[in-house]
Amino acid sequence: MYPTPLCSHAGRGTFSEVYEPAEDTFLLMDALEKDADRLQQLSCTDVNPAAAECAVQTSERNRVCLQPVITDLVESLLPRLSGEVDVLLFNPPYVVTPSEEVGGRGIEASWAGGRRGREVMDRFFPTVARLLSNQGLFYLVTVAENKPDEIVTVMAESGLRGEPCLTRSAGRERLSVLRFGRT
Ligand SMILES: C[S@@+](CC[C@H](N)C(=O)[O-])C[C@H]1O[C@@H](n2cnc3c(N)ncnc32)[C@H](O)[C@@H]1O
Repeated sequence: MYPTPLCSHAGRGTFSEVYEPAEDTFLLMDALEKDADRLQQLSCTDVNPAAAECAVQTSERNRVCLQPVITDLVESLLPRLSGEVDVLLFNPPYVVTPSEEVGGRGIEASWAGGRRGREVMDRFFPTVARLLSNQGLFYLVTVAENKPDEIVTVMAESGLRGEPCLTRSAGRERLSVLRFGRT
């Protein structure tokens, strides 16, 4: 068992506009712990500058090295990282909201997923196969409203095979972490 990282600074004080780790966060951590032998390196981006700064503090508190990049999805890392990413994690804004709520850079970016909760993640999917190395793995947090089975079908069109890694209910949400790799 890996200890739960120290993250009590997120979501309060200086970081009140940053997503406070919740059930989706912990489900993703459990999925990574389950696959720990396959995972060796981490990448990190966020569109919210406060979230990036918060991640720096989280890494310092937990004695790991993280250098967050403030960017939309992975925009500023392409084409440099094409084919280079062994482990790609995305806990996206997945909540169904009006489309007008999507696209902010504050705390609302944590949850606002637009139509079917898919607007941000759908924008990222075409990039995933381009980023992953031959042995690369992509982990994605979803809720039932995102239609995880349909996401698996969509990703298969770009040569990535997906399956649920962990599923859990959290309040009214049915959360799943999907794992994708090359077929
Ligand atoms: C559900 S929160 C997850 C936060 C944290 N990674 C975790 O697992 O607890 C979603 C995160 O995605 C970020 N985000 C939303 N849209 C983004 C985009 N277009 N590019 C990069 N990051 C984005 C939000 O700012 C927020 O920090």
